[in-house]
Amino acid sequence: MTRKTDFLVIGSGLAGLSYALKVADKGKVILLSKTKLEETNTRYAQGGIAAVTYSPDSHKKHIEDTLICGDGLCNENIVRKVVSEASAQILELISWGAKFDKKPDGHFDLAKEGGHSEHRILHHKDNTGYEIQRALTEQVIQHQNIEILDHYFAIDLLTQHHLGVPVARHQDDITCFGIYALNIRTNQIETILSKTTLLATGGMGNIYQTTTNPEIATGDGIAMVYRAKGIIENMEFVQFHPTSLFNPTQRPSFLITEAMRGFGAILRTKNGKEFMYKYDKRQSLAPRDIVARAIDTEMKISGDEYVYLDATHLNAEKLKAHFPNINTKCLELGINITTEFIPVVPAAHYLCGGIKVDTNGCTTIRRLYAIGENSSTGLHGANRLASNSLIEAIVYAESAASHTIENVSAYENQKNIPAWNDEGTSHNEEMVLITQEYKELQAIMTNYVGIVRSNLRLKRAFDRLEIIYSETEELFDKSVVSVNICQLRNAINVAYLTIKMARRRRESRGLHYTIDYPQRNKLSKL
Ligand code: FAD
Ligand code: SIN
Repeated sequence: MTRKTDFLVIGSGLAGLSYALKVADKGKVILLSKTKLEETNTRYAQGGIAAVTYSPDSHKKHIEDTLICGDGLCNENIVRKVVSEASAQILELISWGAKFDKKPDGHFDLAKEGGHSEHRILHHKDNTGYEIQRALTEQVIQHQNIEILDHYFAIDLLTQHHLGVPVARHQDDITCFGIYALNIRTNQIETILSKTTLLATGGMGNIYQTTTNPEIATGDGIAMVYRAKGIIENMEFVQFHPTSLFNPTQRPSFLITEAMRGFGAILRTKNGKEFMYKYDKRQSLAPRDIVARAIDTEMKISGDEYVYLDATHLNAEKLKAHFPNINTKCLELGINITTEFIPVVPAAHYLCGGIKVDTNGCTTIRRLYAIGENSSTGLHGANRLASNSLIEAIVYAESAASHTIENVSAYENQKNIPAWNDEGTSHNEEMVLITQEYKELQAIMTNYVGIVRSNLRLKRAFDRLEIIYSETEELFDKSVVSVNICQLRNAINVAYLTIKMARRRRESRGLHYTIDYPQRNKLSKL
C-alpha cells in the first residue's frame, strides 16, 4: 500500500504533536506513533518546562545557566534563540489547554532545578509531561487534517538510494521522499510518500540497562538518518539522571524529580552522611553530570547499590502536595517520603546529541526535519540544563513548521519508489537471538560507556559491539521485518555512534567523563 501526504510527522511526543498542530491548517498531515499515541518520553516528564516569566529572572540569567551547564559546547546563538522564544511557546501550550500550577496570587508557581540560578520551571504538580501530552493529544485527535497512524513503525527513510542512485555519506543533495513503515496490526509494510518529513522519535535510553525512558526510546530516528547517510553529532553526551528510584525489578526506572532537590531534599550515603559538599559548592543542586558522577563515586567507594534522597526535614503536607505521584509511587513500595529516606541511583535519561540540524530544524538531508530529543540543535552542548528539553522541542516545532510551510509548495510526492523488498526473508523463529543481543548491548553500554569511561573500556565496547552488529545485520537480512529486530538494529546503530564519538573526544567534558583525560576547568560562576 502507498499513502501520500504533504507533511509526514514521525513521533507523537511534544515535538511531533506541536509541529503537527502548527502545520495542519496548511495541508494534509500523517502522524505516526510506534505504539499508542500517548506512550512517549514526554508523558513521563516530571519537573517541568523552563522559561523566563518574572523578574528577578531574566533571559540573560537563563542563557548564562544554559551555557555554564553545556561546558563550552553550546551554540550561544541557539541558546539565545530558545530562551527568548520560550515564553511565546508557553502561551501556545496554554492556548492548547495545558495547565501549569499557579500560586494564590495568580502567578506561576515556579520550581528550581540543578544548574538554574532562579526559580523558572513551570510545572503541573510532578507530572508536567502527562499534562502536556494530554492537552496536545486532545487537540491532534480533533484536527480534521491530521491522520493518526498509531502502532505504525517507521523502518527507513526513502531517498535516491531507493531509485537506484548511489548515495555517499554526507553528500549534500540527499533528499527524503518519505518512509517505509510497518503497520504493526496487519504486519504489512507500507510506503508513505511525503513532500516533507519530520523526525520527532525521541531518545535512546534503552541502550542502557537502567533508564528512565519508556521502551519506545531506542534511537530509531537517529539510526534512520545515519543509514540514509545524513550527519549525526555529539552522541557521546548521554545524560544520566542522578536520582531514579532504586527498584531493580522495574523498567523503566521511576524518576524522582530534581525539583525535589530544588524543594530542599538532600542526598546522603546509605549510612546517612551528606556527601555533595565534597564535589561542588552547589551541593545537591549542582548540574546533573556532577551529581550523577558524585553518586557513582560514592557507590563505588562504599560498594552500596544506592544512595538516599532525604526529604524528611521538609514540611510534610507541602511535600505531598508538590509531589503527589512520587508520594503515591513510594507508598506503594512501602516508603513514606515524609519520614523515610528514598533509595536512588543514576539512570540513563537524555541524549544531548543526535541528528544535526540548523536553526529551522533542517537536517543535512533535504526535505527532512528533526526536532525534539532526536535532534542536535546546539542548545545543550556537553550537558543539558534541567527542563530545557521540553522547551527546546516546542521552540523548534515553531521554527520547523514556519520553514516547512514556506517551502512545501515547491515539492511534489516522488514517483517510482519501489515497494519494500522482502525477497529471501522468512519468519524469524529465534526470538531468543534478538533478546540476547539486546541484553548484551545494554551490558556493553552500561559497563563500558556509562557515567565514567576510559580509552580501554571504549575500545572493548567497540570490539564487542562489532560482533553483535554483524550478527544482527545478517539476521535482519534474512528475517521478515518485525519491530523487535528493527529496534535492536537501531539500538546497535546509535550505540555504535555513541562509542565512536566518545572515542574521538580526547578530553573530559560535560557528560563525557573519562579517567584518561583530566577534566577541563569548567566555566563556573563559583
Ligand atoms: P518523545 O516524547 O519521546 O516521543 C517520541 C515519539 O516517537 C513517540 O511517539 C514514539 O512512538 C515515536 N517513535 C519513535 N520511534 C518511532 C518509529 N520508529 N516509528 C514510529 N514512531 C516512532 N524534559 C524536560 O524538559 N523537563 C522535564 O521535567 C523532563 N522530565 C523527564 C522525565 C522523564 C522520566 C524522562 C524520561 C524525560 C524527561 N525529560 C524532561 C526529557 C523530555 O521528556 C524529553 O526529552 C522529551 O519529552 C522528548 O520529546 P520528543 O517529542 O522529542 O520525543
Ligand atoms: C526532572 O524532573 O528531574 C527531570 C527534568 C529533566 O530531565 O529536564
